[in-house]
Amino acid sequence: MKIYLDTANLEEIREVARWGILSGVTTNPSLMAQEVGADFEDTIRTIAGLVDGPISAETVSEDADGMVAEGIEYSAWHSNVIIKVPSTPAGLEAVSRLGTMGIRTNVTLIFNANQALMAALAGAFVVSPFVGRVDDMSHDGMELIREISSIFEQNPDIRTGILAASIRHPRHIIESALAGAHIATCPYKVLKKAMQHPLTDRGIASFLADWHAREASMAMQP
Ligand code: E4P
Repeated sequence: MKIYLDTANLEEIREVARWGILSGVTTNPSLMAQEVGADFEDTIRTIAGLVDGPISAETVSEDADGMVAEGIEYSAWHSNVIIKVPSTPAGLEAVSRLGTMGIRTNVTLIFNANQALMAALAGAFVVSPFVGRVDDMSHDGMELIREISSIFEQNPDIRTGILAASIRHPRHIIESALAGAHIATCPYKVLKKAMQHPLTDRGIASFLADWHAREASMAMQP
């Protein structure tokens, strides 16, 4: 399973890109709104220069014509730009029309397996089931990933990827991988937490203490 960063913050992207684990980035209007004063086009173009992989840019139109027009505009910014559209009938039409132009799409706000199946049949490049928001409604976000994975596996004509979104904690990353997601898009804070373990910190401290003690004892020898 690949890891994407779910952010429009350039510093976060620069840092995680240096780790060598990043395969793409997803943005959305709410994440853009957190970057006060940042220009959308500049942000997407800059991200595309930092990460060599799909960069999702989300449409804000509510009708298919508007989504298609935004998709044509955003996809011209960089060949790695993927057009994010909502899981609505208009979104499906936009996916289908953009697909005929060779423009890849990410169908977002997926909350049931029917939405994922229809997005795939319309030709989506990836679908984004929101596991955290499903959990928030007292349902099982991972069960949604498992259902979509099983449906896609049983239909070999479907080439659409499953992008687990709304990842809220490190366990969601592991569970997404086990449930069959191809990608998990993660907030920066969740990725940082995923790399933390007290035994790693304690192990480093004890190795360094032993190393320095060894050096000190060698320095004492004649
Ligand atoms: C995915 O592409 C979305 O941008 C994101 O994962 C939504 O996450 P949230 O439910 O934490 O806002």
